[in-house]
Amino acid sequence: MNLMRILGLETSCDETSAAIVENGTRVLGIVIASSRDAFARSGGVIPEYAAREQLASIHPVIDQALQAAGMGHEDLDAIAVTRGPGLLGSLLVGTVTARALAALWKKPLIGVHHTLGHLSSTWLDCPDAPLFPILTLSASGGHTELWLRTAHTKGRLLGRTRDDAAGEAFDKGASLLGLPYPGGPAIGRLAESGNPSTFAFPLPLAHEETLDFSFSGLKTSLKYTMRDLTPDQRARPSLLADLAASYQNALCMHLVDRMKHALEQYPDVTEIHATGGVAANTHLRALLTKSFPGRAVRFPQKIVYCTDNGAMIAAAAEFSCSEQQERLSAPFMTSASLPLADALR
Ligand code: KG4
Ligand code: ZN
Repeated sequence: MNLMRILGLETSCDETSAAIVENGTRVLGIVIASSRDAFARSGGVIPEYAAREQLASIHPVIDQALQAAGMGHEDLDAIAVTRGPGLLGSLLVGTVTARALAALWKKPLIGVHHTLGHLSSTWLDCPDAPLFPILTLSASGGHTELWLRTAHTKGRLLGRTRDDAAGEAFDKGASLLGLPYPGGPAIGRLAESGNPSTFAFPLPLAHEETLDFSFSGLKTSLKYTMRDLTPDQRARPSLLADLAASYQNALCMHLVDRMKHALEQYPDVTEIHATGGVAANTHLRALLTKSFPGRAVRFPQKIVYCTDNGAMIAAAAEFSCSEQQERLSAPFMTSASLPLADALR
C-alpha cells in the first residue's frame, strides 16, 4: 500500500498534537496544544494533570488539524499514534483515541516509537532529502541518545545518557536558577545577555572512550557554584545571565564533544542531525554548525518540529511502513517504557 496522507497523534507528555503529513515530509496541517504553562511553578510535569488536559484537548486538536489541512477524515490514508515511551495516562489518551478513530473511519493504525518520531523530524518540510548514513542526536526531557542510522528504521544506538536527559538538565538547572519550567527556553533566553566564559564547568566523561552522556554532575556543579559565590559575584547585575550562559554552554559542549568522538569512530557519516526539544537551542545549533565543517548539519526546519508534535509521528509511520511493510496495522501495546533499539533493525 502506498501511504500518502497520515494523521499523526502525539500525546506522550504535556503536549497534545495532531498533524497531517504527506509522504512523510510535507506538513499539511499541524496543531499543538500544551498544558505546560500549568507546570511553570512546579518545576516539571504532574502526570495526572497532564493526562486530564490531554483528554480535554485531543478531539478539538484533531478537528483543527484536519481543518488546517483543508481535509476531512475520508482523505486520510492512515492514522499514526505514539505508543511509548512517555507518561502512561497521557499516552493512553492518544492510543485509545487513535484506536477508536481507526475503527470508526476504517483506517490502518500504526503505533510509533516516540524517539523514532524525533529521529524523523529533520525530514519535515526539508527542501532536499537527507543522505544516510546519518549521525543523529535526539535530546529531549526524557532521553538523550546518539544514533548511527543507515536507513530510517535501521541503525545502532551508539550512546545514551547514564543519568539525567539533556532537557532534564536544562529543566533542573533552571529550577536552581529560579526560572520557570520548561527550563531550556528560559535558560536560552537569559543566556543571551550572559557571558558563557564566566563560570567553568567540567566537561563530563572527557577522558572516557564512551559515546554515552552524563549530565547529573553538571547540575551538581551549578548547585555548588551558586552556593560558593563570593560577595562580589553575588553583587554583579549580570550574575544570573552569566550562570545561565555558562551552564548552557557546558551542557551543549558535552553534546558536541560526544558527537565529535562518534565522528572519529564513524568517519563515513555524511550528515549530522540534532533533534528533540534541546535541538531548539540556539547556542547548540551554532556550536554544532561550526564544529562540523564539510558535513551537512541539520535541525528540524521549525522549532515546533523539535519539541513533541504529531507531524514527526506521521513521518516516522510513513518511513516505517515504506521500509518495514509488515508493520502496517500490526497490533501494538501502549507502553510507558519502550527501548527504541528493539524497534529498529
Ligand atoms: O522533545 P520534547 O518536547 O519532550 C520530550 O520528549 O521530553 O523536549 C522537551 C525538553 C524540555 O526538557 C525542555 O526544557 C527542552 O526540551 N527544551 C530546550 C529548548 N526548548 C525545549 N532545551 C534547550 N533549549 C531550548 N530552546
Ligand atoms: Zn519528545
